[in-house]
Amino acid sequence: MKLAVISDIHGNLEALKKVLADIDSIGIETVVCLGDNIGYGPEPDQVIKLLRSRNIPSLMGNHELGLVDKDSLHGFNPQARRSLLQTEQFLSQESLAYLKTLPVNMFVDDCLLVHGFPPDSVSTYLFQFSRTKLPKIFKKMEYDLCMVGHTHELLLISYTNGRVSTAPLSEGVQTLAAESKYIVNVGSVGQPRDGNDNAKYVIWESETRTLEVRFVPYDIRKTAEKIIALGLQKAHADRLW
Ligand SMILES: [Fe+2]
Repeated sequence: MKLAVISDIHGNLEALKKVLADIDSIGIETVVCLGDNIGYGPEPDQVIKLLRSRNIPSLMGNHELGLVDKDSLHGFNPQARRSLLQTEQFLSQESLAYLKTLPVNMFVDDCLLVHGFPPDSVSTYLFQFSRTKLPKIFKKMEYDLCMVGHTHELLLISYTNGRVSTAPLSEGVQTLAAESKYIVNVGSVGQPRDGNDNAKYVIWESETRTLEVRFVPYDIRKTAEKIIALGLQKAHADRLW
């Protein structure tokens, strides 16, 4: 089975539509979203509605949690907090109720999916763990693959014979070793922070153990113009390039 994993759409409907078209063009039916569908971008409600209309399950991201549990807003920087509170005004009651139902993690095909860090953290970043701490985490993992979002960057962390190594993930296909365990940081659909402005997502095929990273161009200008027109922070538009 081929599984498409998308994450961190952040209200960027233009990017999401192009990514879903790319997924459809390959003929993949199973798609899961790791959360942060809202915040920063101009069309959070439309993003939620599109995901739901296509029956794409989503996890809780820290931006969803920020609205579900306002105490968690303490962990946000001032810009992100302001953006999220503006975002709340654009969400329908139905979408706000939906946010409360999102799970913090799920398994698909023996792969653990979580927004921040395994097994169930919505807000912990992968980079908070040094290479000396990661072996303990991997040792505890009873599954050999975990996918996370949250950092908006692509990264592959592997654990082989007690040793951890990290490698940047670039566009293309690679095979993951059967004897290793992995944490894959899948990048961001709607606000990449890896120096390349295309939308990013990954495809995992468990039978062949292949991981494909896809870069998808979209109309960045259109999203930026919507951000400005709504009076959202210009920095969120500038950051898309
Ligand atoms: Fe995010």
